[in-house]
Amino acid sequence: MVFSEVPIELKNISEDDIDKELMRVAIMAEFDAINMYEQMANLTENEDLKTILLDIAKEEKVHAAMFQTVLMEVDHEYLKVMASYSLAKD
Ligand SMILES: [Fe+2]
Repeated sequence: MVFSEVPIELKNISEDDIDKELMRVAIMAEFDAINMYEQMANLTENEDLKTILLDIAKEEKVHAAMFQTVLMEVDHEYLKVMASYSLAKD
């Protein structure tokens, strides 16, 4: 799954939810990119290429965190779930 277009039906989304849906799609795209770069790193025997791919995978994790952060700012239910689940794991 590599996104080349936004996989949401805009006509089915209320105006208030568009940004939240875009953030969730962006998070999915970043997670997909992480998987792709890690899989590519596992496939190559070239250590320089492996290092670059794993470095980019790490950057994609930062991107995912950025989108999750802005999503939690507008989706307070998600923020509460993330906070309570994180605390429950300690
Ligand atoms: Fe990214």
